[in-house]
Amino acid sequence: MNVMVVGGGGREHAIISCLARSPRIKKIYALPGNGGIADLAECVPVSAEDVDGIAAFARERAIDFAVVAPDDPLVMGAVDRLEAQGVRCFGPSAAAAAVEGSKIYAKALMKKYNIPTARYEVFDNLDKALTCAAVSDYPLVVKADGLAKGKGVTVAENFEQARDALLSCMKEKTFGASGERVVIEECLTGPEVSVLAFTDGKTIVPMVSSMDHKRAYDGNEGPNTGGMGVIAPNPHYTPALAETCMKTILCPTVEALQAEGRPFKGCLYFGLMLTPQGPKVIEYNCRFGDPEAQAVLPLLESDLFEIMLAVREDRLDQADIRFSSGASCCVVLASKEYPGSCKIGLEIDLGGADKLPGVSVFHAGTRREADGRLLTAGGRVLAVTAVAPSAEDARIQAYEAAERIQFDGARYRKDIGAYGTQAIR
Ligand code: AMP
Ligand code: GLY
Repeated sequence: MNVMVVGGGGREHAIISCLARSPRIKKIYALPGNGGIADLAECVPVSAEDVDGIAAFARERAIDFAVVAPDDPLVMGAVDRLEAQGVRCFGPSAAAAAVEGSKIYAKALMKKYNIPTARYEVFDNLDKALTCAAVSDYPLVVKADGLAKGKGVTVAENFEQARDALLSCMKEKTFGASGERVVIEECLTGPEVSVLAFTDGKTIVPMVSSMDHKRAYDGNEGPNTGGMGVIAPNPHYTPALAETCMKTILCPTVEALQAEGRPFKGCLYFGLMLTPQGPKVIEYNCRFGDPEAQAVLPLLESDLFEIMLAVREDRLDQADIRFSSGASCCVVLASKEYPGSCKIGLEIDLGGADKLPGVSVFHAGTRREADGRLLTAGGRVLAVTAVAPSAEDARIQAYEAAERIQFDGARYRKDIGAYGTQAIR
């Protein structure tokens, strides 16, 4: 079969690494792919946000199956377009992707179906939002309704920060139409858990849980980022909690979307917080998390493509889904200035890290030159994942690999997965 994967980051490299092992796949195209993906797939210079270009390419190359991985094309309806022209897809329709595309929609869904989440109010008027912020307790969370490249959430410590976030969304229109409406919500506390789950709209099968590390610097200091590293499984997510979440959150969400006439097919991401009052939903994403996918998928022992076909064909209940009983640790190597705007085009020396047993080096922002040199092409450059029988071994091996890799200003957190142990160096 000819398969096309939309996207070009570390998540897509992890997905394509799994798909490349499937005996049923003849050829993989990546739109647009990156320097690492180019070893496994033909990279095509079509942006992941160019839905017309994606649809045209699928028609030209007689694509049999498409995996639409990033949020933007999903919310823009890429799956609806491709399915309408006969391409089978892994990924939700635009209607179902609204769980990520509109925080207001997601909150209303949770409220209607009694799915535990933070208390909230919705505003489309700046003055009313400011009045709410003025009388609320702090910290307080301000969220732009729509997609905002991961920058639409502010956890405000005081009124001034909340006001700045509201002005940025509703007056300065930093996120365009995405910020015209906002959610103001209660700040929850507790460990965060990411649960990715396969669902065909009826059956839901959670993958191994994971924990992202969003802050830029060690000790959870510094600005929020797209994610600096992940461990899987998440040590806080006990089997008892997993069972509770399945009953109170995962199954009810799938049933709610089904009942609303928006069955979700694909990977549904639950961003959970384990609060003193029990697990609650912080956010839904309509796709694999990045970098969660880079930690979770290397633990998958069964054939990802067969699972994706089962999702598409409503027979997930019969699919073979097995994960390793081991653990993984994924360390993100970023450019010096990340999460600010970064200098790109710096030469990367992998130092043999990608040849180490149990280690995968996923490319996020890289580019391969015609002369074979590998250059940086973004803020998050590489995600180095090690899989081992224990979390501690996975962590040690991931850092051994990360240390071998060099480019000017390469920076990574030294405390990914460091609980009760010392940070590396
Ligand atoms: P997001 O951009 O939606 O991934 O959210 C970014 C981060 O904001 C989450 O991972 C949480 O750490 C934090 N966050 C979002 N909503 C809340 C909330 N209600 N209470 C506390 N933290 C939150
Ligand atoms: N790692 C969080 C996300 O993919 O949104």
